[in-house]
Amino acid sequence: MPRLHPDFPNLHVFDHPLIQHKLTYVRDRETGFRAFRALVNQIAGLMVFEVTRTFPHERVDVETPLEGTTGMRIRGKITICPILRAGLGMSSGVSEIMPEARVGHIGLVRDEESLEPIEYLNRLPSDLDAGPVILIDPMLATGGSASAAVSMTRRRGAKDIRMICLVAAPEGVARMLNDHPTVPVYAAALDRELDDRGYIRPGLGDAGDRLFGTDS
Ligand code: PRP
Ligand code: URA
Repeated sequence: MPRLHPDFPNLHVFDHPLIQHKLTYVRDRETGFRAFRALVNQIAGLMVFEVTRTFPHERVDVETPLEGTTGMRIRGKITICPILRAGLGMSSGVSEIMPEARVGHIGLVRDEESLEPIEYLNRLPSDLDAGPVILIDPMLATGGSASAAVSMTRRRGAKDIRMICLVAAPEGVARMLNDHPTVPVYAAALDRELDDRGYIRPGLGDAGDRLFGTDS
């Protein structure tokens, strides 16, 4: 079970040793993009199990080859929304566990000076009120991108929203608590602080560059 953070009622931090073990390789500067991408997806897949625990569900009848019984099914249409680019590098880990989920794409890039998010893509289903929505982005730094992404999904009707990230900064979690207090944030780690360039410390560097082998 992820633990609710004592300072932030919106934050669940995964202290599971397998997730922490993988996160340590992800942080390591010597880890190349192939291993980085695989690890990030594995962590995302492991997180899904708990992130979906509170999904609405209903009893259904099912016929086994031998007799009728009752089972359980998640209610509504699930939508996962990676925030490009880096969120894409986590979303296949989530889709593998939940292949029934729709994928809505949100393109945001941070302006390097102002650190404000700039929107360049919005490909979201129009009926996000039809079920739970999971936002995915490995980095929650100032929280500007995550907060903007929540607003974008809300404009498409989303009501039941959760956010998965790998590493969160206290500043970003506080911003989410202020802007969207009902959206739970699930993270593998709450790091110390943001530096003056808006990077999370100790962090893992630039997630997009490390996932895709670029150097912006
Ligand atoms: C990174 C990251 C988040 C954002 C976090 O994306 O993936 O989307 O920064 O920062 P914030 O909390 O201060 O908004 P970036 O803008 O570097 O784009 P990229 O994913 O395309 O590399
Ligand atoms: N985006 C990243 O990729 N890394 C950070 O540390 C902060 C924002």
